[in-house]
Amino acid sequence: MKALVEQGAAPRDLAGDLASWERRLHTAAHPVAYPMIRGLGKFRPVVRLPGLGVLVSEASLVRQVLMDSSYSKSGAKASGALWTPVVGPRVLLNMHGAEHLELRRRLNGLFTPRAVEAIVAPAAERLRGRLAAGLDNGGSVEFVGLVKELSGGVISRLLGVRDDAPGRLPDTELFNLGTSITSLVRLGRPQLTVPQVAKAKSAVEILAGPVRHAYRGDDSSTFPGRLRTLGLSEDEAVGIVSAFVIAGTETLVSYVPRLTAMLFDGGRLPRLADDRRGLPDAVNEGLRYTAPSPMMLREATAAGRLGGVRIRPGDRILLSTVHAAKSLGGFDPATPIPAAARQLWFGAGAHFCIGMPLAMAEINCALTVLLDEYTRGPWHIRSRTVGRNVLIPHYRALELTRGN
Ligand code: HEM
Repeated sequence: MKALVEQGAAPRDLAGDLASWERRLHTAAHPVAYPMIRGLGKFRPVVRLPGLGVLVSEASLVRQVLMDSSYSKSGAKASGALWTPVVGPRVLLNMHGAEHLELRRRLNGLFTPRAVEAIVAPAAERLRGRLAAGLDNGGSVEFVGLVKELSGGVISRLLGVRDDAPGRLPDTELFNLGTSITSLVRLGRPQLTVPQVAKAKSAVEILAGPVRHAYRGDDSSTFPGRLRTLGLSEDEAVGIVSAFVIAGTETLVSYVPRLTAMLFDGGRLPRLADDRRGLPDAVNEGLRYTAPSPMMLREATAAGRLGGVRIRPGDRILLSTVHAAKSLGGFDPATPIPAAARQLWFGAGAHFCIGMPLAMAEINCALTVLLDEYTRGPWHIRSRTVGRNVLIPHYRALELTRGN
């Protein structure tokens, strides 16, 4: 079992490098909040932070809240309140109860393996070409930029835009549009300001144009066309695509480069490139260790007790996924993950990440391309920079090369 310490006893070293880069990413993103939450969570799994809310940082208690419908995602103090002014009230991540379940039910089967393949494959092929072209002849390539392109390529499919459509926005611009919405969010700020809402709405309007066009085209081979066949109205389809862009952009562009760096820092690339059977465990363990969606928010709607702390209706609940998952030990794909923490990085209960199949396909495609390229000729990380004062810890740049 994974030990209940942040870093297991690591043999110097590679594991130490890996952990220290991950620590740097977290402290650069949240110089005050990360050490504070980490410190508090070590001694008290549930603690009331005046002015901020009730912080929960132990896996089984986080899961308990997620499975309990008396904690709502749609209240004024939960994350839903952030998004309603931007995308309207019916986009899953700001809904609660029967209405939410009914919309989830209609979206069941949206991400079948075939549908996911059609969304991801073209962007993954572009990634393969760009990576090989960059690394050949001793050159170098900035990998975070390539993952942004991958994510932008996926967004274009979600919008229903064909790759050869005239005037199609480049993948990086599509990524930038997505991230211009999510980058407005900050940990201690429960709502967006009026100018921020206006900025986010104008980005959503740009995304909405192609969605409406594809929806009206009534072609079920496009993503908005599929939403139409599942019985969603045009406005609902626009809202759902926006929610997917909001939830699925930064998480992915944080995770893939971090996993890449962790596999390099931990010296695991040569073996994994030769024998891919270890890839699923490495991906899963990387998700646990990094928790790319580091915090979930809820609002209590009923009085109760949680981990010995009294909960009052209206309390804001801060679920620290990152501490709940990371505190189980250092990065080690060979060690099983305790049941309470399993897949917690994708949530649990009614709001469990609906985009997980798509996220996993994007991650697996990107890693397969990287490992294939490693087999053609080992590459290494030449340089990297970390993102500062951002919501989701990430590399700003990760330069890969086969040269010096
Ligand atoms: C590594 C990548 C990802 C991670 C770690 C992740 C994590 C999560 C988590 C933790 C939740 C639950 C939030 C909560 O309960 O408050 C969630 C929900 C959600 N995710 Fe993801 N996600 C990822 C990728 C994606 C992608 C690619 C998409 C879209 C295509 C997506 C769409 C959504 C949506 C729409 C919800 C809300 C579901 C609902 O409220 O019913 N996610 N995700």
